[in-house]
Order: sequence, then structure tokens, then C-alpha cells
Amino acid sequence: MKKFLALALALVMVFALAACGEPATEETTPATEPAGEETTPAGEETTPAEGDTILVGFAQVGHESDWRTASTQSAYDVFNADNGYEMVFVDADQDVQKQIEALRNFIQQGVDYIILDPIQATGWDQVLTECEEAGIPVIIIDRTVDDSDKYISWVGSDFTTEGVAAGEWLKAYAEAKNIEELNILVIEGSVGASATLGRTEGFKQVADREGWNIIASQSGDFTEAGGQEVMESYCQSYAGQFNVVICQNDNEAYGAITAMDNAGVTYGVDGDVILVSFDAAKTALGLVQEGKLNACFECNPLAAPFVDEDVIQVMEAGGTPEKEIYMTETWFVAEDILESITVNGEEMPLVQVTDEVLAGRAY
Ligand code: AHR
Repeated sequence: MKKFLALALALVMVFALAACGEPATEETTPATEPAGEETTPAGEETTPAEGDTILVGFAQVGHESDWRTASTQSAYDVFNADNGYEMVFVDADQDVQKQIEALRNFIQQGVDYIILDPIQATGWDQVLTECEEAGIPVIIIDRTVDDSDKYISWVGSDFTTEGVAAGEWLKAYAEAKNIEELNILVIEGSVGASATLGRTEGFKQVADREGWNIIASQSGDFTEAGGQEVMESYCQSYAGQFNVVICQNDNEAYGAITAMDNAGVTYGVDGDVILVSFDAAKTALGLVQEGKLNACFECNPLAAPFVDEDVIQVMEAGGTPEKEIYMTETWFVAEDILESITVNGEEMPLVQVTDEVLAGRAY
């Protein structure tokens, strides 16, 4: 019955979206997924689920970065018919209202589980209450919800630790290179996202302790275009005044590189500016190996297998999953002058990017 209701509502949604000219199917197509099958459940719903198929609704942030593409692909790799799932996927295109609407549609469709990667850290209690009242477990991935506990589990990364790690690495690196003064520009992620808040806070903890000069800190919205735009304005406003650029994701770093190239600013191992990013997508690790990025702090996008094994399968077996599940991450560097850094009292290895490291990188 639940599946029949889902079919009917899904078809209504498909026609409604078509009537609005919504380009959803194009925007959300991951590399290996045929267009038109993933954003609307139409293809799946016309062949109703058999037996114990688990219907999952996934409200994704958008498609702003390489990291996000890997996260979406990870969901398709796990929540498919081979593994006993059907997935209704919504790309919210960094629009919080679209994401809230997606959750409400999932309730109407009667999905078995909702997966939410929240664009912003707050503003969720009302809709999560609605999910709870509908009896649908919500699993949060990646970014956190900071104003509601009405979810079963969260699977993700410790963004504050990532920011602290970047700061501790910069301190150790500057000492090793005898760089006495650090004048820092930060390109932040999307405003209000917990990934932005955590990385900003963690890095600032070290910067404040060390008395570094953070000249400016502006949002590049986690996109390449945003990173380029912010860096272009930094190059104009602060020419010759900075020697560190911290980009809160890889795509912003790609944009910052273009802007610095155009402005004649040198960066990386042989340049005037120390360049750092977060995520560690394969393209960025290639830049680390080339010495264009000095360091890159991983944020793991592959939450889907954890959601499957450690949350949904536990619940299907009648158990209670952990409320918080942290994924492990690695700190990558271009040079072999430092072996490790101490982050929050714990010694953590630094991994130099080699051919072997790159070859083993899946995304
Ligand atoms: O929430 C994770 C962040 O969001 C990643 O660092 C970034 O690339 C993505 O857009």
C-alpha cells in the first residue's frame, strides 16, 4: 500500500515538475547514472518494489563540488536494486526551501527512510518533527543539524577538527620553512553550513592562539566560480599583503588558482603563497602532487555504505544504531618535510601524495 501511494504521488510530482519546466533530471545526473532515472522515482515506481525492497528518499545539498558528485555517486552505488533498495533522489541545488519541500514529499511518498545532508545547520526542527510524526526515521549525513535531535543517526566528518588540523599543519610548516609572519586570506564555504562553521572555527582556534593575521574571510559558496570571484577581489584589494590562502574546499581552490594565475601571484611549494584546501578529491590530490597545493585536508564523501551497514541494516534487524558515526580522514601534503602533526592532543600522520596514493584514489 505504501508503495502504491508512493507510485501515485511520485507520478503527480513528475508531472508537476514537468509542468514547471524543472531541469531536475539534468542537474542531478551523476556520472554513471542514466539521465531521467534518478531525480524522479518514475522509472522505479512504475515497476513497484518487490518483497522487502527498502525505499529511501535522499535530499542532497546540490552539485556544487567534486566532493558532492562523489557523495551522490556513493548513494547510487549503495541504494540500488542490487542491494535491495530503491532511492528517490532530490538535488536541492543549495536551496534550503527545496530541501525542506523534498522531505515533505518523501513523507507523502511513504518512504521507509529519509537521508538528509542539510544545506544549513539550523532551521530543521519543524520538518524533522513532521518526519518523526509520520514514523519515518531520518538519517543525517555529512553536515550537521544543530537545532534538532529528531533524527536517528548522523554519519559524517568532524569539520572543526579539519580546521584545527589545517591550522596545526600551517604552524608546523611555517616553522620548518622559517616563515615568521603569516598573513592569511580565507575563502569560506556556504554561509550557515556546518562544514563552513566548523572549518572556520577550528582554524581560527589555532590562528588566535598563534596570533596570526587573518586579513579577510569571505564565502565562495563551495564552488569554483565562487572561489575565483573571491580570490579576484582579494588579489585586487590585498596585492602583496598575503602569503597564505585557505580555501574551504577543493573547487574554491581551483577557482583561486585561476585568479592567482591571472593576477601573476605565485603559489604552492615554489610560490609566494601557501595554498591549502579541504576535501581531497582526486583532482586536488593531483595538484598537491604537482606542488600547486601545499596541503589538502580530507573530508570523506562516502557516507552511503555506513548509512546502509551501520544504520539501516541495524534498524532492519531491530537494533538501535549509534547516534553519531564518524568517518576516518587523511591529511595530504606536497612535501616530505613533516611526518605528523598534533591535533587536539593526538599525533596524526601526514601523507605525501605519490603516484601510488593517486592511483588508489576512487574519486
Ligand atoms: O559538506 C561538505 C562540503 O560540502 C565539502 O567540503 C564541499 O566540497 C561540499 O560542497
